[in-house]
Amino acid sequence: MKKVITYGTFDLFHEGHYKLLQRAKELGDYLIVGVTTEHFDEARGKVNVVDSIMDRIENVRRTGFADEIIIEDHDGQKIEDIQKYGADIFTVGSDWVGTFDYLKQFCEVVYLERTPDISSTMIRKSKFKIINVGIVGTGRIVPRFIAEAKYVSGINIRCTYNPELKEKYAFGNRHDLPNYSDSYEEFLEQVDAVYIASPNETHYEYAKKALEHGKNVLCEKPAGFTRAEAEQLYSYARENNRVLMEAVKTAYCPGFGQLLNVAKSGKIGEIRDVEACFTRLANKESRERTDASYGGSFLEFSSYTLLPAIKLLGNDYKSVHFDILYDETGVDVYTKVSLKYDNATALAKNGVAVKSEGQLVIAGTNGYILAPSPWWLTRRFEVHYEDPGKVEVYEPIFQGEGFRYEISDFVSKINGIDRHGYKLTAEEAIAMAGITEEFMKEKNKEERTHNNVAG
Ligand code: CTP
Repeated sequence: MKKVITYGTFDLFHEGHYKLLQRAKELGDYLIVGVTTEHFDEARGKVNVVDSIMDRIENVRRTGFADEIIIEDHDGQKIEDIQKYGADIFTVGSDWVGTFDYLKQFCEVVYLERTPDISSTMIRKSKFKIINVGIVGTGRIVPRFIAEAKYVSGINIRCTYNPELKEKYAFGNRHDLPNYSDSYEEFLEQVDAVYIASPNETHYEYAKKALEHGKNVLCEKPAGFTRAEAEQLYSYARENNRVLMEAVKTAYCPGFGQLLNVAKSGKIGEIRDVEACFTRLANKESRERTDASYGGSFLEFSSYTLLPAIKLLGNDYKSVHFDILYDETGVDVYTKVSLKYDNATALAKNGVAVKSEGQLVIAGTNGYILAPSPWWLTRRFEVHYEDPGKVEVYEPIFQGEGFRYEISDFVSKINGIDRHGYKLTAEEAIAMAGITEEFMKEKNKEERTHNNVAG
């Protein structure tokens, strides 16, 4: 019996897929079809697959050509499968000519002529209108955002809004975008969605206006400085049937999701403590170091450092306490946030002029999870137990700087494919805004001059 094996994503199943499977089957007697997992596709940079894996498998099954359907979830698997299933022929469409020649040492490799003029990418593009995005603010995060947006299809960065910039917004060597400096409304008219990356204190107003104008909003954190502001924004979004997402990259990063799931799986027992630290020695001239009102370590990093606690221990903390070190200008350069829950504690450490080990430790009754820096772009974490010799290492795939995952989820949500809401819920974002509110109160009441640390 001649066994044939082929692989694909088979998203938005189309004629090209059908014909490929038909001809693959004709190459032998028994056809094995590998369907990629979402995770594997994300890792390969295909971050906007529409159909769930179950639907994609079902569509392959319905053709009647596959004798066996398997899941493809990692690099190197093709060699394993060819050996494991004893495949005689590996086949794939001619768009891959050459790529899989390395498999010739294991079996015959056949590239089948690709069906012209059709692909999942084309269907995705025609099924969903391209989302025109405007960027509010032109700070240093913006070129990084634009670079990563290129990995997500269905999105077009159209213009920027910065009232202080009269020229076009130039980024990189050859690129620029039209900038609107006179009227925010005029800017909003050009776009379907906005990414708000302006100074912290302006987020709320920009987000509110954009939602009122029927635009979808991806907003850098914090979207609001109080619980009430955050509640208001999320209810505007709900009422106007628009997407509001806070740009907490970590929440959307696949490895972080995996870490949370391992923590919740019971492996380390009951979770009793979550300690996260994120520090960066920021330039003395930077906004973080010079803006006593809206710069500082808490506003810079706490949406990352509080996230693991909120995700794992919940929104209903019993008390919050801040230990804040200020510099002579009143900027909080190091802030520790302690949360107390019924049966657990959490500590979030943030620094812009103090350097520490940027790790995340989740302590449980059976063991602990340690994610080293940069845990916020989760590439590695370890599970440790009482026995120091027993360590389980996880190395999830992570690509680029992490923006692509949040941008992709934003696009999916706008397109009505909302399988991502759980990654950062409105309730969680509102709970975090509540902590920001407490922090701002604390900062305003504290006598700053006694606590100088930075020269
Ligand atoms: N295929 C084909 N003819 C097409 C499209 C795809 O023969 N017009 C083949 C591919 O070469 C591959 C299989 O179908 O062997 C599954 O391809 P997949 O990547 O899932 O489909 P695409 O439409 O190419 O997807 P995308 O646009 O997302 O790359």
